[in-house]
Formats: sequence, C-alpha cells, structure tokens
Amino acid sequence: MAKPTIAGNRTGRKLGQRVKNKKMKASSRQWLQRHINDPYVQRAQLEGYRARAAFKLLEIDEKHSILKGARRIIDLGAAPGSWSQIAAKVTGSTDEDIRVAAIDFLEMTQLPGVKILQLDFLDPSAPAQLIEAVGGTPDLVISDMAAPTTGHHRTDHLRTMHLCEVAAHFAVEVLGEGGHFLAKTFQGGTERDLLNMLKRHFKQVVHVKPASSRAESVEMFLLAKHFKGRQADADVTEA
Ligand SMILES: C[S@@+](CC[C@H](N)C(=O)[O-])C[C@H]1O[C@@H](n2cnc3c(N)ncnc32)[C@H](O)[C@@H]1O
Repeated sequence: MAKPTIAGNRTGRKLGQRVKNKKMKASSRQWLQRHINDPYVQRAQLEGYRARAAFKLLEIDEKHSILKGARRIIDLGAAPGSWSQIAAKVTGSTDEDIRVAAIDFLEMTQLPGVKILQLDFLDPSAPAQLIEAVGGTPDLVISDMAAPTTGHHRTDHLRTMHLCEVAAHFAVEVLGEGGHFLAKTFQGGTERDLLNMLKRHFKQVVHVKPASSRAESVEMFLLAKHFKGRQADADVTEA
C-alpha cells in the first residue's frame, strides 16, 4: 500500500493560494480555497484516487492493518470511489472475478473489479443485493456513509449515527470470522448500546481519527476488529 503520510506538496501546485472571485459567496470561496490548498486533495490527484478520503483508509490501515489478506470487501457509501479503488487493489478483484461490492445512492463512475449498486443502503433489499454482488462471505465491511446535510446540525448527526448503527448490524450479519468493520462516526456520538453490541461480537473495538480527517471536523471512525463469528452470536443469545 502507498505510504499515507503527507511529505510536502509533490503536485507542483503551490499551496497557500487565495481565491479572489468576488462574485462567489464567502462560504463557497472559503471552501474552494481550502480545497485547492489541501495537500491530501493534491496528493489524491497525483496518485489517481477519486477522493482525498483514500488517505483516511490508508492511514487507518497503516496503524491497524485491516486490508492485508482481505479477500472480499463491501464498501458502503462508496461514491466517488477512492475506498473502492483501494479495495479492488488489495483483493485483486477483476470484472471476471468480482470481490468488491460498493453501494451509494449517488451515481458512481464504473471501476474495474467493483460491482456498483446505485441504491439507498437503508433500502430493505440492499443487504441481499450486496452479498450477491460480492460473491461470497466478506472479510471487511467499510462504511464512509454520511447523511446528506440538512443544515440542522443535530438532525445530520443523528442520521449519520443511524447509518453507522445499521452498517454495524449488517457487518455482524455478513462478516466471516476474523473479519473487520470500519465506519464513520462522530466524536462522542457512538451510542453505548452500539459499542456494547460491537464489543460482544469483535475482539477489539476502537475509535480512530486519522490525520487526513480534518481537525476541525467532528468526524471519527469506529473500528471493530476480529469478528468472533456467528457461533459467538448464538452463545450471547443463549447466555
Ligand atoms: C464521504 S462520501 C464517501 C467517500 C468514499 N469513501 C470515497 O472514498 O470516495 C459519503 C457517501 O455516503 C453516501 N451515502 C450517504 N447515505 C447513504 C445511504 N443511505 N445509502 C447509500 N449511500 C449513502 C453519500 O451519497 C456519499 O457519496
């Protein structure tokens, strides 16, 4: 895997550029200025990733080694597709032997070795379609899903947390023993019940904030490692 640390600006584009277009709204100008000066955006372009989000996954993997050995990966909230690009590479997925399934309700440009479902993950048919698409038991479920923003902070927060919770239950339903689950969450946002459920089913549960996740953002990732398997599930139910 590519080393995720950012070692200066290698795109040849100057950092610290200012956007001077006075016709733009101040908030849009600030966003654009931050975007073009973001070293992760520049490095994503240089390395052919569809989004700077690629480095979040790579940094988490650098520390927690979740991609190594993965044979089938399900990517939830996948557009524009940088996590799927990495997933296809690590699994050696090809169009002839698909090992990565990706879902997003937004349209996503095709990627070799990735079966893309344009569908809401909360649609009742999504879990079965994802399993069929990935062609076997996944050993990694990754979710970067964030609910579309409404402008109402609390609502946005709750919606994204709900997605994280549904993704966690999906992971417990579908993962093979020893598999891992990674999902976007918010600082202080993971419900105790969800954490307890994950701790019952995985050997290790941690929160991670990669350097490429903007410091001012409350975004974090919830990582549950080494799924104990569904037999453990039965033991929990019987206890
Ligand atoms: C931060 S982006 C994902 C970026 C992606 N990891 C990458 O590397 O390119 C979050 C995505 O989650 C998707 N999303 C949010 N809610 C969803 C849902 N209910 N079903 C499917 N996709 C959803 C959004 O459409 C958006 O494309």
